[in-house]
Amino acid sequence: MSFRLQPAAPARPNRCQLFGPGSRPALFEKMAASAADVINLDLEDSVAPDDKAQARRNIIQAIGDVDWGTKHLSVRINGLDTPFWYRDVVDLLENASERLDQIMIPKVGCAADVYAVDALVTAVEAAMGRRKRIALEVIIESAAGISHVEEIAASSPRLQAMSLGAADFAASMGMQTTGIGGTQENYYMIREGVRHWPDPWHWAQAAIVAACRTHGVLPVDGPFGDFSDDEGFRAQARRSATLGMVGKWAIHPKQVALANEVFTPSEAQVAEAREILAAMEAAKAAGQGAATYKGRLVDIASMRQAEVIVRQAELIGG
Ligand code: COA
Ligand code: MG
Repeated sequence: MSFRLQPAAPARPNRCQLFGPGSRPALFEKMAASAADVINLDLEDSVAPDDKAQARRNIIQAIGDVDWGTKHLSVRINGLDTPFWYRDVVDLLENASERLDQIMIPKVGCAADVYAVDALVTAVEAAMGRRKRIALEVIIESAAGISHVEEIAASSPRLQAMSLGAADFAASMGMQTTGIGGTQENYYMIREGVRHWPDPWHWAQAAIVAACRTHGVLPVDGPFGDFSDDEGFRAQARRSATLGMVGKWAIHPKQVALANEVFTPSEAQVAEAREILAAMEAAKAAGQGAATYKGRLVDIASMRQAEVIVRQAELIGG
C-alpha cells in the first residue's frame, strides 16, 4: 500500500448528466425540471457551426434566467482543435451569472489541453472578479486521450469529472462500428458454436476509473445512442457501475430515470453492505479480522467494499 492515500472524489451525486443542444433553448426548462444530477448545455457537436454564436447567447441567458435548483450546471465548450473554444470560455465567464458551476472540455488529448483552458479560465475569472471558482470536466474520446488518461486526470485541481465518449472514441480508434456504446454485433467470442458478446469498452472504462480514482476525479460513462433500447442502456450502465463509474450521460430525457436507477445503490445492496459491516464489527469485537457472512468470507477488505456502497447511498440520500 502506498503511503499516499487515495484522494476522495467530489462529494456530490453525479448519477446522470443530461445533455441538450445550446441551439434548442426550448429544452432548457425541461432539462431543469428533470431528475438529472448534472446538466450539460452543449456548444459542441450537437450545435451546427453557424449556430455557435446564438447558442452561446442562449446558454448565457438561460444560466441566469432558468431555475436550475440544486443541479450541477455545466457547459460543454468546443474542442481545442476548433476556432470556437476560446470565445466559448471568454463569453461564458465574462457574461454568464455565477450560477455556472463547470465547463466540460471535449476531446482532451493531453494534460496541456486542460492546462490551456485552466489558464484562460483563471485569467477571465480574475479579470471579472468572479467569486465562484469554475470546475472543469473532460471527455476522453480519442486514442491520445486514453493513452494520456493518467496525466489528464492529474492535470488540474479544478478537474472534477471525466467521461468516456464512446462515439468519438470509436472513430478515433478506427473501430469498425457506428454504434454509440453498448454491445457490438461483431465483437464476439465463440465457444462450442455459441456466441458471447464481451464488452469492447471495458479497457477504456477501466483505464478511466483507475486514473480518476488515483487523482480524486469522478469517472462517468458517456452516451448510449439508441434511446429506444432501455435494456441495452441498463446493461451498459450496470457494467459501468460494476467497474466503479458513478454515473452516465442521458442524451434523451427518458434515459435519466434509467441512469438514476442503476447508479443509486438498491435497498437490497445497501442492506447487505450494512449487514457485512455489522458482521465485521462483531468479528472485530471477538478479536477476529475475518468472519463468515452467508457462507462466504468477509474480512477487512469487505468492509471497504461495503463502505463504498453505504457512502454512495448516503451521498445520494443527502
Ligand atoms: N432534454 C430535455 N428534454 C428533452 C430533450 C433533452 N435533451 N430532448 C427532448 N426533450 C423533450 C422534447 O422536447 C419532448 O418534450 P414534450 O413531450 O414536452 O414535447 C420530449 O422530451 C420527447 O422528445 P422527443 O420528441 O422524443 O425528442 P426530440 O426528437 O425532440 O429530440 C434528440 C431527440 C435526440 C434530438 C434530443 O433529445 C437531443 O437533442 N438530445 C441531446 C443531444 C445532445 O446534446 N448531444 C450531445 C451529447 S452526445
Ligand atoms: Mg464527442
